[in-house]
Amino acid sequence: MPKLTLTEAELAAAARAMLRNSYSPYSHFRVGAALETSKFLYTGTNIENRSYGLTICAERTAVVSAVANRERKFKRLAIAADTDHFVTPCGACLQVLSEFCDDLPIVLVNGAGKIKRTSLKQLYPAPFVFASRRAKK
Ligand code: THU
Repeated sequence: MPKLTLTEAELAAAARAMLRNSYSPYSHFRVGAALETSKFLYTGTNIENRSYGLTICAERTAVVSAVANRERKFKRLAIAADTDHFVTPCGACLQVLSEFCDDLPIVLVNGAGKIKRTSLKQLYPAPFVFASRRAKK
């Protein structure tokens, strides 16, 4: 299978395009995500629910889509919002990302299309890890 090669601008544009698909009738806050693997681009957007806690963020939508397709090696993630500031992933999304990668370049895109580069390690340096119950006393 041919390798996928995307420029940062293309990845950012894919995340921004997902803003259109956001289902956010409660917060009216739209978020788009684009997760790159070596083979494919998995996109996501936030999908809210009238039972608020069931809302799923854009980032996790993209991760779930990739993993459901047996893709667990992530290369880069872009997150877009139509705000002045750069939207970073929430704690739940950071923990879910940390399940699949120690580090990951993250590209944040604001409403003006400006880009800020960060990483999973930078945003979430100490993820929860499952400690063995049989650890020595
Ligand atoms: N949201 C995301 O999609 N990603 C984040 O990292 C933070 C928040 C969504 C969830 C909800 O639909 C809306 O933004 C407002 O919290």
